[in-house]
Amino acid sequence: MIYTRLFASLCALASTAAALTPLEVNGKDFVDSKTKDRFQIIGVDYQPGGSSGFTKKLDPLSDADACLRDAALMQRLGINTIRIYNLEPSLNHDECASIFNAAGIYMILDVSNPLAGGYLDRSQPWTTYSAIYYKQVFGVIEGFKNYDNVLGFFAGNEVINEDAHYVVPRYMRAVVRDMKDYIAKNAKRAIPVGYSAADIRDILMDTIHYFECDLKNSTSSRADFFGLNSYSWCGDASYKTSGFEDLTGDFADATIPVFFSEYGCNEVKPRIFTEVQAIYGEEMTQAFSGGLVYEWTQEDNEYGLIKIKDSKTVTTLVDYDNFQKQLNKLDMDRIMSSNATQANVKAEECSVSLITRAKGSQPFYNAWDLPEVPPKVADYIKNGLPDAPVGKFVSVSSTTIPQKVFDHTGKEITNIKFEVKSGVNTPSSSNSGSSTSSSSSSGSSSSSGSSSSGTSTPTNAASLNGAPSLALGGAGGFFMLLASLL
Ligand SMILES: *[C@@H]1O[C@H](CO)[C@@H](O)[C@H](O)[C@H]1NC(C)=O
Ligand SMILES: *[C@@H]1O[C@H](CO)[C@@H](O)[C@H](O)[C@H]1NC(C)=O
Repeated sequence: MIYTRLFASLCALASTAAALTPLEVNGKDFVDSKTKDRFQIIGVDYQPGGSSGFTKKLDPLSDADACLRDAALMQRLGINTIRIYNLEPSLNHDECASIFNAAGIYMILDVSNPLAGGYLDRSQPWTTYSAIYYKQVFGVIEGFKNYDNVLGFFAGNEVINEDAHYVVPRYMRAVVRDMKDYIAKNAKRAIPVGYSAADIRDILMDTIHYFECDLKNSTSSRADFFGLNSYSWCGDASYKTSGFEDLTGDFADATIPVFFSEYGCNEVKPRIFTEVQAIYGEEMTQAFSGGLVYEWTQEDNEYGLIKIKDSKTVTTLVDYDNFQKQLNKLDMDRIMSSNATQANVKAEECSVSLITRAKGSQPFYNAWDLPEVPPKVADYIKNGLPDAPVGKFVSVSSTTIPQKVFDHTGKEITNIKFEVKSGVNTPSSSNSGSSTSSSSSSGSSSSSGSSSSGTSTPTNAASLNGAPSLALGGAGGFFMLLASLL
């Protein structure tokens, strides 16, 4: 009986299109590579456990049960992108990448991690610009290059700051170059590579100009996009008082997509996220392609949208509800409509005149004499990083999540479903799950009367690029054992 049902759903796979099409950069916009519709990031930064929650054995995309729970709650929230900071290339990410892809959620990935050899040392960048560091960088690219829902890679996060050595910009631009050269040679598509900047207003314009200008003798060193971590809108601020108006003016002339790679000041609690209407409003969307709220889970610094109690229980915080209310007000047709003017922007040639703070107490580096690629790194670029695991999509099915979810008042939210979608997730399109005051004691979160033996019935399924199906290891058998049928 179950096998007949599974076989029927497997047959349906053949006609199920990939859930997400890759995005590409067109002028200062991200666009869908097929439809050319504009794409704006409606996202959340994803680092369960905080920056210390990462080890060689566990990163945010290696625990399928947690990814399934979070994908379902993110679908309900209405976001379309997550950013993941710390990844371990030797771990298997197939299940989580497939879950987020099927959920209609793109991923932006930082290539560094905080372990030894995993990052570029901002105080002496020449000591870590080496083959050891590139095992991490190219390892992440190998692991993720075949997932269609990878929006892009961050070559660095806030590496240029007050503590950074004067020459860091030339090393950072070299990392962009090496990553893009590696992708051009070793991946099937031109996955965009960008940089995520700290909101240091004095050097912000110099920073983007340094990355976005055209360098005739090294065209691949130009960044494809620019992320800004900004917390200047706190509480019920305004477009003017928050400084967002200034940012719009500053980035209006950018020639690559710019977005908030982190936002969501928590000086006033709870957060009400009124900045959402500004970020996606008519003025700002000419300069910005949306942003990502910091951050998904509640950690010691109290920026979370949800709180994980244990592996079986989570609470959606009041910030989750407040953010969702703001997202539900957005006019998605306008946000996703393309604009030819935005696409037809051209980069200036790199020149010293682009850098305004070239002199003074804290000068910004104003030459583009990029360091040469170390020989071993050049070899990796040419021949690929040896012995690096390469990820691939696996099949996932729609299902009710096994965890118990409570809202911030303590009421259980029942029937939260992870839904395999045929496109990008959008606000208010998947408001499954409803709060009930009944304190269900059955312990079962499955609502489907027709399901038997703890197995939910798939209502939809996705398989991608003919990838083989694998069973996901949920203890409750919430994933179909499709592999056994192939
Ligand atoms: C298109 O983009 C340009 C430049 O960003 C802007 O001036 C113009 O108002 C936009 N047009 C529409 C219809 O949004
Ligand atoms: C490339 O051009 C920049 C800017 O003109 C220059 O500083 C750099 O030395 C050049 N690099 C090479 C390898 O010629």
